[in-house]
Amino acid sequence: MPRKLAAGNWKMNGLRANLTEIHTLAERHAEASVDILICPPTTLIHACNGVLFDIGGQDCHTETGGAHTGDISAQMLADAGANYVITGHSERRADHGETDVIVAAKSTAAHEAGLTAVICIGETLDERESGATLEVIDTQLAGSIPDQTTAQNTVIAYEPVWAIGTGKVPTLDQIGEVHSHIRARLSERFADSADIRLLYGGSVKGSNAADIFAVANVDGALVGGASLKADDFSPIITALENS
Ligand code: PGA
Repeated sequence: MPRKLAAGNWKMNGLRANLTEIHTLAERHAEASVDILICPPTTLIHACNGVLFDIGGQDCHTETGGAHTGDISAQMLADAGANYVITGHSERRADHGETDVIVAAKSTAAHEAGLTAVICIGETLDERESGATLEVIDTQLAGSIPDQTTAQNTVIAYEPVWAIGTGKVPTLDQIGEVHSHIRARLSERFADSADIRLLYGGSVKGSNAADIFAVANVDGALVGGASLKADDFSPIITALENS
């Protein structure tokens, strides 16, 4: 059984004053029996040095450096104190046109910088409603997950696009179907597939976390909105510890 992971994605939220939320969480979960990861905006990564939790970026460039104004390399994230980075989040795929090829290259850059990549995949509502979910997942897995993936350098987050920030959550059967499908596909490519952590993401809250964590092949969650406040994220961490 892989060690469980509660990951918070702050997206484009958070000023220095909000670091108190992380400190509060660290006090409450100093003895956590699960891994805890916070992905704050890049501006706050260095200020998180010394915090008990793992810290991650939310995106990285495919290159280690060069003429790419405004971009951040995986090496820079590592240098600032991060040990994880999210790649292929659906907001990056939608807002910045990131394709599976780009996501795979970013994930490779993360691995080369010594970061664990949290690679996100998931179908849109149209794809779900037209019955194409597993096909979309297969395409994204084949295209976004690099060959050098291991259980140490990669976490996969299944995030249905229609569930992100909407309060809508798939049924537990739907989550279970996709997670077991992902596990089976990974076993065709990676020797340590059973240990690759599979997170569910999309409107996870304290009130639904325990049910979601009881689903087979769910090894944790990638949480957006409910990770911003210690009072909201804390019950999710506790639910994961009790699962
Ligand atoms: P949400 O976002 O928890 O606010 O739905 C999840 C994510 O985008 O990772």
